[in-house]
Amino acid sequence: MRTDRVHALVPAAGTGTRLGASVPKALVELDGRALLLRALDGLAASGVVGDALVIVSGGMLGEVDAALRGNDWGPMRVAVCRGGAERADSVRAGLRVLTDRLGDGREGHVVAVHDAARCLTPPGLVRDVVAAAVAGPAAGAVPVVPVTDTVKTVAPGPGGTETVTGTPDRATLRAVQTPQVFALPAFVEAHERVTGPVTDDASLVERAGFTVAAVPGDPRALKITTPTDLALARVLLGGEETP
Ligand code: CTP
Ligand code: MG
Repeated sequence: MRTDRVHALVPAAGTGTRLGASVPKALVELDGRALLLRALDGLAASGVVGDALVIVSGGMLGEVDAALRGNDWGPMRVAVCRGGAERADSVRAGLRVLTDRLGDGREGHVVAVHDAARCLTPPGLVRDVVAAAVAGPAAGAVPVVPVTDTVKTVAPGPGGTETVTGTPDRATLRAVQTPQVFALPAFVEAHERVTGPVTDDASLVERAGFTVAAVPGDPRALKITTPTDLALARVLLGGEETP
């Protein structure tokens, strides 16, 4: 895969409500380096990403521009655009900027959507998922890890409590991480054809009828969501070299 055909979209426009920091989550520092910059470090170190488009809220543009300045990500080019109210809106906004830039030249290109909040994702995982997406025959690939808890489905029950409605077979369940990587034409088509709420990028591609491959994920690709996750990330960082 030619690196100039691998484009990362990095959603970073969230506020980080559950983390509860005084700055947007992407700008929260882990051992002195912002989560967003660490996520970009990992993408650049993979050596397979040609450019990264960071998607932020309007209010963050100045601060993010300043944070990006002075970093050296080698041949990986980094640009910034404005996102939307929900994560899916942010990805859609980034995709529009990317496709406008590429014009008709989308064949053979892939897009890697990677949360800024998954800041310790190993470069090797980025390479693995890109390689799986490029190899086909599936339209894309996502990193997954086994689920350790038993998962229940629930529905509203009597007296305002929830009632358990089922227990899916845990052996068939996986938690999904990022980067989620897709053939760009399939991703664009999925965005054109599928509407409605989605919680990850692959579900849109699946609903459009494409096949998505699942490749082994990595615990270090955890998403920083709560203060507990940040504490865990600090532990992970202490035990090994950064990408
Ligand atoms: N994200 C985004 N645009 C939004 C919402 C989220 O680009 N409107 C990004 C976040 O910045 C993050 C990723 O999507 O990198 C995953 O979202 P999540 O972990 O939920 O982050 P936040 O929405 O910031 O956190 P919270 O839900 O706790 O507010
Ligand atoms: Mg959120």
